[in-house]
This record gives sequence, structure tokens and C-alpha cells, in this order.
Amino acid sequence: MQQVIALIMLFLTLGQSTLVNYTAQMNLGGALMLVNRDYTLSSSYTPADLVMPNVERASDAVLLRSEAARALEDMCAAAQQEAGLTLVALSGYRSYSKQAAIHSKKVEKAGKKAANRVSAPAGASEHQLGLAMDLCTTYDHGLEERFASTPEGQWVGENCWRFGFIIRYKTEWEDVTGYMNEPWHIRYVGREHAKIIYEMNIPLEYYIAALKDESLQAILNTP
Ligand code: DAL
Ligand code: ZN
Repeated sequence: MQQVIALIMLFLTLGQSTLVNYTAQMNLGGALMLVNRDYTLSSSYTPADLVMPNVERASDAVLLRSEAARALEDMCAAAQQEAGLTLVALSGYRSYSKQAAIHSKKVEKAGKKAANRVSAPAGASEHQLGLAMDLCTTYDHGLEERFASTPEGQWVGENCWRFGFIIRYKTEWEDVTGYMNEPWHIRYVGREHAKIIYEMNIPLEYYIAALKDESLQAILNTP
């Protein structure tokens, strides 16, 4: 893993434009699958193993892929045990058509430009992957930046990597991700990747681009 970190550091020193060029092919499969406006899902894409996580939920319709659901259960239990905090799962898997409806509503309400900073068009949302979850608190179900200032939001920001989740959208990454700060939106990538991404504080786009690089692949494949 030290090699992975060293190479990612190297790529970061190359500059953002070079890195963006590495994003030509982004699908590493599994929990590292990249979904954004450039790498979209078809209208028929539905994960096979959706389950309802056994956590506090804002509704009965909150689903995640099973591995991510188990990780969320571990995370919510830890928040409760370690800090006495109750995290509430608000929105997980969303179908293509559900995302289309949410996005249209947002555009109607806020206008296209503002809507596009917080809402993905159908096919471009990682909620369709079943690996993203929007969290809130028991006392505030709003998906707003103020979540980051709550004890729950702070705990999530500092600890979600331990359970395989990353904070996917941060203010300083908006040029890369296309979205404003979303402290409530966590994305499951698995523990190993989440730890590195957290430590390096980089967007998933850069991490996957670096992992895809041929020179890195060569080192990883060397016995
Ligand atoms: N809010 C995120 C970007 C989504 O709509 O998927
Ligand atoms: Zn979200």
C-alpha cells in the first residue's frame, strides 16, 4: 500500500490537468466503480443485492448493496457506542427514474445551474449504484451544509473511512466532481481504499485515475 500512496503522491505533483487525462477509462469495477456526469449508468442498471440496512432510517425505502449496508450498520453502531450519536439513513439506492424525477424537481425549484451543483441527472448519480447514502440527524432531516457542523456530521467526517466510506463531495473538489460540498453524502469504496482516500484527501476521480495508471499496475503486479 505504501507504493500506492507514493504513486498517487507523484501523480498529484504532476498537476490536475495530467490527472484528468488519466480519467479516460474509469471503471475498475466493484466498489470502486466511478459514476459521474462523464461515466454514467444505463437506465436498466440495478444492483442485484440491495438490502435494507438495519439502522435508524427516515423511511422504509432506504436500500444499499449488501456489503455497504453491513458497513453502514457497523458505522452507525460505532457512532452510538463511541459518541452516543444516532445517525439516520435518509436516501440510499435510487433508480434511474427516481433520480430523473428528483433532478427535474430540483431544476424546477432552483433553476438548472443551481440544481446541477447538488443534483445529478438520471444515470449520473452514484445513488443508482447502491453504494451511496445520504445521512441526517434525528432532529434535522435537511440535506444541507449545516450537517457538517452537527456532532453527527463531524463524527461522520472524521470516522466514516474506518468503515469503508468516503465523503464524496467537498467544496475544494467542485471543479473535479461537479458538485458543491455535500457533507451528508457518503460513498462506500471499501475500507482499504477509504483509508487512503481519507489520508490523502483527494476526490475519487483522482484516486481511480491513479490506480488505473499503467506504471502503477506494473508495480502492483511485480512479485
Ligand atoms: N447529490 C448527488 C450529487 C446526487 O444527486 O447523486
Ligand atoms: Zn447523496
